[in-house]
Amino acid sequence: MDQNLLITGISQLLTLRGSSARRGAALSKLGIVKDGAVLVRDGRIAAVGTRRTVEACSESKKAEKLDIGGRVAFPGFVDSHTHLIHAASRAEEYELKIRGASYEEIARKGGGILNSVKKLRAATKDALQQRARAALEAFVSHGTTTIEAKSGYGLDAASELNILTLQKEIREQQPIDIVSTFLGAHVVPEEFRGKADGAELYTTIVMEKMLPEVAAQDLAEFCDVFCDRGAFTRQQAKRILTEGKRHGLLPRLHAEQLSRTRATQLGVELGAASCDHLEQINSSDITALAGSQTAATLLPGCDFHLGLKNYAPARKLIDAGAIVALATDYNPGTSPTVSMPMILSLACTQLRMTPAEAIAAATINGAYALRREKNVGSIEVDKQADLTVFEVEDYREIPYYFGENRCWMTLKRGEIIYMQD
Ligand code: NIG
Ligand code: FE
Repeated sequence: MDQNLLITGISQLLTLRGSSARRGAALSKLGIVKDGAVLVRDGRIAAVGTRRTVEACSESKKAEKLDIGGRVAFPGFVDSHTHLIHAASRAEEYELKIRGASYEEIARKGGGILNSVKKLRAATKDALQQRARAALEAFVSHGTTTIEAKSGYGLDAASELNILTLQKEIREQQPIDIVSTFLGAHVVPEEFRGKADGAELYTTIVMEKMLPEVAAQDLAEFCDVFCDRGAFTRQQAKRILTEGKRHGLLPRLHAEQLSRTRATQLGVELGAASCDHLEQINSSDITALAGSQTAATLLPGCDFHLGLKNYAPARKLIDAGAIVALATDYNPGTSPTVSMPMILSLACTQLRMTPAEAIAAATINGAYALRREKNVGSIEVDKQADLTVFEVEDYREIPYYFGENRCWMTLKRGEIIYMQD
């Protein structure tokens, strides 16, 4: 059966070639091919280059043809930080925040993450599934082809396992790749808060009860901890992530979002795949990240949604040589967006990243943060044919236009999974 597809009419093809994490000046090298073409064979890339060279391949002659009419194509976004499964929005807290309440004040009064935990525990599996499926369609319609998804709104063994099991089921039902992360240590659940040593007790449950089950059922690749004021301490994070490693789960961290706990340096010591947020880092954290293989994943949607202005120091991180990635942090409390293009706009105007840097951070470096840089995140021979096409003339217009969706088409493993009406 002939399953080849020849894509032409690409005014700018951003290949992001290299298949490795980008640092410093390399972050802005998009590997642009003008009048480009891509040949897809059985869901993988068989040839890539100028239209002339790709059309010259013998296989191209009998391939099905797709002309995208002079638009810009690039690798599907790899959104390496999402909290996909949750039951409802927290619009009521949004209004409180606008009126002046801080994220932490709301959390202390039982709102915040615990509010979402209550809602998730009360929700049916069907309702959770429907909400997640709708979000996934929205991700795809904004050009995303791979996401990471964390548990963390269950906070008891049964609910956390249910979330991860649901993620596994949804992975089979729809086209985009979902990479699972166990975040049992999001915050200490309500039922442990009244107890002396409640946080320690819960930490032990995460380590001794949840982690072994998650690993035994092969429900997650990564283990994450929210290490911050009001969540888990550095010591607790270290115990959990070390135990996670023993079970074969790679560490990643919510680090220095609200306060500086030195979680970043812990992440580097443990060889974490990524430290995420980083709004409160200092120069020694920047040096540590720059000298490491740990990605620095920035989530500017949070500050934007919370109305804060202490964005992470992206320029310093890039200039020091850290592996900077960008993600949505899709979640109901701090960043209710599925839109990587919006994150790119924020990265440019608020983090002072250039459009080229932002695109690389959202594709190849996102893939690296999920340890998938050999398979996705760039358009190169043998990689998965995950591409998105935007209705723009120049790649800089991808972040330039904000608040509207310019995604025209998304392809996953060579199949069209979204097409603008
Ligand atoms: O990445 N900071 C911790 N976790 C999420 C927020 C979760 C929530 O408020 O529901 C974050 O910002
Ligand atoms: Fe998060």
